[in-house]
Order: sequence, then C-alpha cells, then structure tokens
Amino acid sequence: MRLGCLPKEASRWAVQEVRAAGRWLPGDSPARKLMHPRFMRKRSLNGTILPRLPLYKTLDELRKEAQACKACDLWRNARQTVFGEGGESKTKIMFVGEQPGEQEDLAGKPFVGPAGQLLDRALAEAGIDRKRTYVTNAVKHFKWEPRGKRRIHKKPNTAEIAACRPWLEAEIDTLQPEVIVCLGATAAQALLGKDFRVTQRRGELMTSSLAPFIMATVHPSSILRAPDQETRQNEMERFIGDLKKLARFAK
Ligand code: URA
Repeated sequence: MRLGCLPKEASRWAVQEVRAAGRWLPGDSPARKLMHPRFMRKRSLNGTILPRLPLYKTLDELRKEAQACKACDLWRNARQTVFGEGGESKTKIMFVGEQPGEQEDLAGKPFVGPAGQLLDRALAEAGIDRKRTYVTNAVKHFKWEPRGKRRIHKKPNTAEIAACRPWLEAEIDTLQPEVIVCLGATAAQALLGKDFRVTQRRGELMTSSLAPFIMATVHPSSILRAPDQETRQNEMERFIGDLKKLARFAK
C-alpha cells in the first residue's frame, strides 16, 4: 500500500501515533507499519542512504544482511560487521555498548575482548547469566586509527551512530526486551538523546518507548581505564550494584 492512497487525515494520524509510540506493534495496520521510522528514515545526517529494513525479519536474517551494510564509511576499514548476539528467544535484558573493539572485529562477536571479560565477571557477580541476555553495540563496525602497527579505537561520530541506528532499532523491535541497558555515553546518547548524562542518571531504571525499562550505566572499559587498583575496585563494585538492579529481569 502506498501512503498516497490514504486520506490525508489518516496519514497524519498514523504519523502522530508512530512518533508518539516510537515504534510499531504487532497487529498494527499496514499503513501504520509503513510509517515506522525503519521505513521512513532514508538518509543519515551525512546524507548516506540508510538501510531500509523490512519488518518481520529474524535476528539471523538481520545479522546476515548487516554484513553488507555500507550506510557509513566504517565498513571500509573494519574486518566485518559485528552484530548483536545472545540468548535470543528468552532474552529480557539487552545490553548496548558503543562499538566493537579490535578483538570483536576479528572474532565477529560483541564484547569478547577485555571489556567483555570484565562485563562477564560483573554479570556473574550480579547473578546474571550472560547467555540469557542479548549483547550488542550502537555502532556495528570497528572504528580505529593506526598507531604504529596497532589499530587504536576511535569514538564513532553522530552521523555514524545515526547510520547504524536502524540496525539497533531492528534488534529492539525483534527482541522486544523488557529492559535495555546502555553501557556508556555513546549508547545512552544514541537511545536517550544527546543531552542525556550517564553521570547524572546512572543506574536509574526509567520507563521508555523503546522497551518497558531502560537504564544507563558506565562502559566496562571505563573501569579498565581507572587510574589505580582501589578506584578500579570501587568502580567495579558500583557497576555490579547497577547490574544487580536487573536481577528481576534475569529470571
Ligand atoms: N566495547 C564496546 O562498546 N563493545 C564491544 O563489543 C567491545 C568493546
């Protein structure tokens, strides 16, 4: 159905509804689905064409399609797209990091390097089985700059985050998690807006149009970067404390 076929009033109503809800729901009319941002958003901030993602795809299908994503330039220097993964059918908790690092780029899996190992330890301490959560990133290609022979992590910019957002929205729509956990400022700003400050609202379980609850906490790599052992230990304890708030979603 083309939107041109709809009476003007109906299409205005559909736009308002979808904007207000921020998502479509199973059982929505075809017109309303066509108004979903996944269909509507065709260009990212820097003008690149965004992937048009059909609804009703499985995560495996999305993962396969994301391998060919060229919505921004990061695919050029990365080895592969690192899509999310986890205990997909029973998942109630979805973690969103920033972007894959060097080890994730090589393995094709999110959070398998040092930050991922710290996340694993913190989850185990909080009594959460990582295998029953879904772990992904706001940006799905490794952005880096050369330093000698090493590839050093470089923060993704607003256009790159926006270019990747349809994949993140597709993961959220498909999984329908009960809680989304933003790990660090990039993920929080991608999902909660540019003005959101993790430092001010860390560990707060907030309601959201993306999922019943959303929470932001620090990125595990910020704990690895702590200046000394004592700070690292304190930060780890605070991080575990945040994760413990998710215990009720982990059952
Ligand atoms: N840091 C992230 O944000 N994501 C990963 O997958 C690894 C490190």
